[in-house]
Amino acid sequence: MLNKCIFCGSSALPLLLCLYFVSVLLSVVVSEIVLGSKLSVTENKLWVSSNGDFALGYFNNPDHPNQYILGIRFDSDSIPVDKQVIVWVAGAELTVSNQSYFQLTQEGGLVLFDSSNGGVVWTSDTSGKSVSSALLQDDGNLVILDGNKDVVWQSFDTPSDTLLPGQNLSVHKMLRAQSRSSVSSYYSLYMSELGKLELRWETSVIYWVSGTPSNVSLRASLSSNGSFQLLDERSEAFWSVFAEDHNDNVKFRFLRLDVDGNLRVYSWDEDSVSWRSVWQAVENQCNVFATCGDHGVCSFGKSGLAICKCPFRLTMESNSKCLAPFEQSCDTRVSMVGYKHTSLYGIYPPNDSVIITSLDSCRSLCKKDPLCTAVTYLNDGTAQCRIKKTQYITGYIDPSLSSISFVKTCMDPLAVLPNTSPAAASPSSPSLSSSKPKKSYRLPIRFLIDAVLFGFCAFIVLQIAVGIWVYKWRVAIVRKQASSPYNGLISAGLVRWTYAEIKEVTQNFKDQLGPHSFKALLQKNQPALVKKLDTQIEDRRFRSIVSIIGGISHKNLVKLEGYCCESGHRCLVYEFLKNGSLEEFMCDLESCKRLTWRNRMLICLGVAKAISYLHTECRDFVSHGNLKCGNVMLNENLEAKVTEFGLQKLDGIDTYAEKDVEDFGKIVLYLLSGRQSSHEDVCEWSYNKWVSGYGWRVVDKRIEGEVEFEELERALRIAFWCLQFDERMRPSMGEVVNVLEGTLTVEPPPPPFHSRTLQEDRLTGAELA
Ligand SMILES: *[C@@H]1O[C@H](CO)[C@@H](O)[C@H](O)[C@H]1NC(C)=O
Ligand SMILES: *[C@@H]1O[C@H](CO)[C@@H](O)[C@H](O)[C@H]1NC(C)=O
Repeated sequence: MLNKCIFCGSSALPLLLCLYFVSVLLSVVVSEIVLGSKLSVTENKLWVSSNGDFALGYFNNPDHPNQYILGIRFDSDSIPVDKQVIVWVAGAELTVSNQSYFQLTQEGGLVLFDSSNGGVVWTSDTSGKSVSSALLQDDGNLVILDGNKDVVWQSFDTPSDTLLPGQNLSVHKMLRAQSRSSVSSYYSLYMSELGKLELRWETSVIYWVSGTPSNVSLRASLSSNGSFQLLDERSEAFWSVFAEDHNDNVKFRFLRLDVDGNLRVYSWDEDSVSWRSVWQAVENQCNVFATCGDHGVCSFGKSGLAICKCPFRLTMESNSKCLAPFEQSCDTRVSMVGYKHTSLYGIYPPNDSVIITSLDSCRSLCKKDPLCTAVTYLNDGTAQCRIKKTQYITGYIDPSLSSISFVKTCMDPLAVLPNTSPAAASPSSPSLSSSKPKKSYRLPIRFLIDAVLFGFCAFIVLQIAVGIWVYKWRVAIVRKQASSPYNGLISAGLVRWTYAEIKEVTQNFKDQLGPHSFKALLQKNQPALVKKLDTQIEDRRFRSIVSIIGGISHKNLVKLEGYCCESGHRCLVYEFLKNGSLEEFMCDLESCKRLTWRNRMLICLGVAKAISYLHTECRDFVSHGNLKCGNVMLNENLEAKVTEFGLQKLDGIDTYAEKDVEDFGKIVLYLLSGRQSSHEDVCEWSYNKWVSGYGWRVVDKRIEGEVEFEELERALRIAFWCLQFDERMRPSMGEVVNVLEGTLTVEPPPPPFHSRTLQEDRLTGAELA
C-alpha cells in the first residue's frame, strides 16, 4: 500500500551527489586561463583554482556514458571523488557529446562547442569586449577579465541550482532544480522584484517565502559562516537564517535547490566524510508543493522522510494504479469517500474556492457540483470548505491535521469500461464495439511510474532520432557557414545577418511566400524563409528572445537559423519547407488528396509532440500562442513542423499552455473533418455527431482510402478534451501525445461547450443536423 516516494529529498540525496563523476583526470592548476586555452572531452583535463578547491572541466554522468556537461565542481583533496558536487553547469542543463571542446577564444569569448550538435552550443557572449584572460577563482567563480583586470563576465551571475558562499542571487535571478528523468523541473527559487525569495512550483504556486523585507533587498547571499541572508544596498542583512552549524569552522558550504523542491544548506563534514544538510527551507517535506505528484498523499514519517501513499484506489489489487478520484461520466452513483487528518489540494491548476459552511454541507456541495472532484474541510474553527475542481489532486496526511477531506468517487464500475462511451456502444461503428474490452484508466492520471517510465523511454528514443536528425542538418549548416562570405556573428548557433545581406539573399524581397515572409537563396542555392517582423522591440531583448528560440530544436519544429537586428529592421531566417503550410495544402484540392488518413494522423502527432516539447522540455517555458494550420509547415515527406513559436514573447505577451491545447484541438478537428468555419460550429457539429454514435460522419470526404476507426475515436475524444471550455479540464500536451500514440486510453469527453449540455441529445441518441 505504501509507495515510498521516489523523489523524496533525503533518500534521493546520495544518488544525486554522486550523479556525476569523473574517470581519470589530469588536473592543471591555472592561475590564468590565457586566450586560446582549450579543454576537450577526450583530453580529460581540468582547470583547477589556485587553492585546489574547485575545478572546471567536463564531467560525465555514469547513467549516460556519452553525455557530458561542462561545469565547475568541488575538487579539494579532502573530498572523495564521488562527493565532489557540481556547483555550476554551462548552459544550465546542457549536455554535450564526446566531440565537444571548451575554449577561451582569441576574440575573448568562452565558447562551448559540440560538433555533433551543430557547433557553438553555449557562449559567454564576451567576444569583442577586450578580454585578456579568464580565471577560476578560489571561491569557485569563473571570471573573464579585461586588460584592467576588471570582471566582464562571471559564472556567479548565471547560477544553475547552487549558490556558493560569496555568490549573489540578485533580483529576477533564480536557481532551478535539476531535471528528473529528463523532465524539466517545476521547482525554482526566485528572487522577486519586491526583494523576497520565493520557492515556486511552475510560476503560479509559491510554497515558501523568505519573509517580508522591510526595504527592498538587492541580493541574497550565503555567507561562509553559515547564514543565508537578504542584503540591502549597504550590504546590511535584514533577513537571515542560520544553519545549525553556523560559526563552526566548516571548510565548505553551499546552498542548493534540490530535486525534491526543498532548499538546503550543506556543510562538508570532515568526520563523516560527507555533505550534511544543516538547514532546509521547508521543514516538513509534505509542504513542498506536489511532493507526491498527482493522486499521491504525502505523510511525513518518523524517519523524517516523506512517504507517498495512494489512497484513491478503486480496487485492492496490489498492482493497481493510483486511480483518479473522480469519474466524469459517472452519472449514477457518486459517493464521497472521507479521509481523516488529510488535506488535499489541486495541481494543474492549483486553485480552490473557499466557502464557510458546515462539514455536512461541504460534502454535499461537492457531491452536487458536477465539476467538483474533492473537498477539504478545515475543522480548526475556520469552517473553511475548500472546493477543488481539478482532477489532479495531491495532498498530505498528518495526525495533527484537523482537516478532513472527501474525494468524489464513482461507485459505478461501468464507468471505467470503454464501452460506456456512447460512440463505442453505438451499433453504427462496429469496428469499435467489437474491440475487446481494454483496461482503461482515466486520461488525467499523470506521472507516476508508468508515465515517467514511458516518458523516459520515449524521450530516449526521441533523443536518438532527434540527435541523428539534428546532427545531419547541423553538419550541413556548419558547412554552409564555413563557406559563407558573410561573417555573421554566431551566437548559440544562430547566424546574424545584416539588413543588406538579407536584401541580397531575398533579391530585395522579390519572392513573397506569405504575409511578411519571403523566399531567400543562401549559399549553393539553398532556400530559406525570411520573415520580416513588425516590432519595435529593442535590440537587446530581441536578441535574447531570438537566442531562446534559436536554441530550441525538435524534429517537429521549424528551425530558426538566423536573424537580422539592425536599426529598425527585425528579420528571422527560417529553414525552408518545400510544401508550405498545412493551411495552403488543405485548401488546394489537388494537394489535399495527398493527405491520406495516415498522413493526417501523423501530422496531428507531430504537432502534438512539438507543442509538448515546447511546454515541458525547454528551459524557459515557451508557449506557442498562435498555433494554427497556417503555422504548421509540411516538409517533402508531409511531416509536420510547427513554426513561429515563441514570437509572442517579442510582443511581450505570455500566453498559457491551455491556449495551445485548445488551438491544437481545432487543428485536429480541421484535419479530421476538412471543415474550418468558426470553431464553435465545427466543434459543436462534430461533437453532436460523435456523441450520437456517428463519429465517422465527421471524416473529411476527400480522404481517399482507409480510415482507422479506432484512431478516429481516439482523435475525436482527445480533440474534445482539448477544446473543453473549462481550461482546467484540458489535458497536457504530453497526455495528448500518449493518447494519439495509443499508449493511454481516454475517457469519453463531456460536451466541450459551456452554454448548454447535450445530455438530452445523448440520452435519446438523436442525430442532430
Ligand atoms: C564518442 O561517442 C561515440 C558514440 O556517441 C562512440 O562511438 C565513440 O567511440 C566515442 N569516442 C571516444 C573517443 O570515446
Ligand atoms: C555581490 O554584491 C555586492 C554588492 O553589490 C558586491 O560588492 C560584490 O562584488 C558581489 N559579488 C559578486 C561575486 O559579484
